[in-house]
Amino acid sequence: MKKLVTVLYVVSALLGAVVSSPLVALYGSDVILSCTFPHKPDSGTRRVMVVWQRKDSSGSDQVVHSYYYQRDQLDQQGEAYRNRTQIFPEEFCKGNASLKLMRVRLEDEGRYTCYVGNEQDNVEHSVDLVVTAPYVEPSLNFDLSNQDDHILLVFTSSGGYPSATIQWLNEAGNDITENSTTTQLADETGRFQIRSEVVFPAVENLSYTFILENRALQQRITRPVSVTLETPATL
Ligand SMILES: *[C@@H]1O[C@H](CO)[C@@H](O)[C@H](O)[C@H]1NC(C)=O
Ligand SMILES: *[C@@H]1O[C@H](CO)[C@@H](O)[C@H](O)[C@H]1NC(C)=O
Ligand SMILES: *[C@@H]1O[C@H](CO)[C@@H](O)[C@H](O)[C@H]1NC(C)=O
Ligand SMILES: *[C@@H]1O[C@H](CO)[C@@H](O)[C@H](O)[C@H]1NC(C)=O
Repeated sequence: MKKLVTVLYVVSALLGAVVSSPLVALYGSDVILSCTFPHKPDSGTRRVMVVWQRKDSSGSDQVVHSYYYQRDQLDQQGEAYRNRTQIFPEEFCKGNASLKLMRVRLEDEGRYTCYVGNEQDNVEHSVDLVVTAPYVEPSLNFDLSNQDDHILLVFTSSGGYPSATIQWLNEAGNDITENSTTTQLADETGRFQIRSEVVFPAVENLSYTFILENRALQQRITRPVSVTLETPATL
């Protein structure tokens, strides 16, 4: 009985290894989507045919790049990929039909599939692409001119994707996020603009910490703020 349990464990570990994790690309960068196929080193590459496709938002297949008759065939290429793709025919002899996707956009997220045919075989391989973008250094604004002796602290940041996790801590390190207000709005590229504020009564000296996290990128920005109340000098 014990033997059987061990065998099952090994099988599930092997199955687990087959699932490839998504490829994470930075917004605006170039990325290589990997695709390999069995190719005997001594056989020619003249009959290699490569088609890279992905499903668009309506679920229909869109051509990302295709190559046959020893040249790029881009008549059917999706408009969004125009001038942004490259494959490497000199690598076919090594069984490499990888795709270079340039100037990555948020809309590029999704599953890409390569279909490769040569004299020996037809193979199909998929890659999931995930796009991320770091947030810029947050900038701080505060407003002391307001009513009722309250102080408004505002942090803003932009350019990040996906949306961020925001946290505020007080001097004692307690979470006061529920006393803050945060908005995250997508700009024209789909990246987020963040505005996060806290309002508190100006009665004592305080320290706050603002924390912005983009977990997909493991980006964590921590900004401490100290508010010192000066008693106006009396004349
Ligand atoms: C692709 O590049 C060609 C040549 O530089 C240019 O004429 C064309 O406008 C570009 N197309 C797009 C969609 O960027
Ligand atoms: C395939 O070719 C591309 C472009 O030269 C390269 O970046 C990539 O590392 C190659 N992949 C493999 C598996 O050799
Ligand atoms: C959060 O706001 C509530 C209601 O205004 C207030 O009672 C509480 O003291 C505030 N908490 C912190 C930690 O500032
Ligand atoms: C705040 O800190 C300043 C400078 O350390 C000090 O002069 C002032 O008395 C403090 N005010 C309060 C309300 O604690």
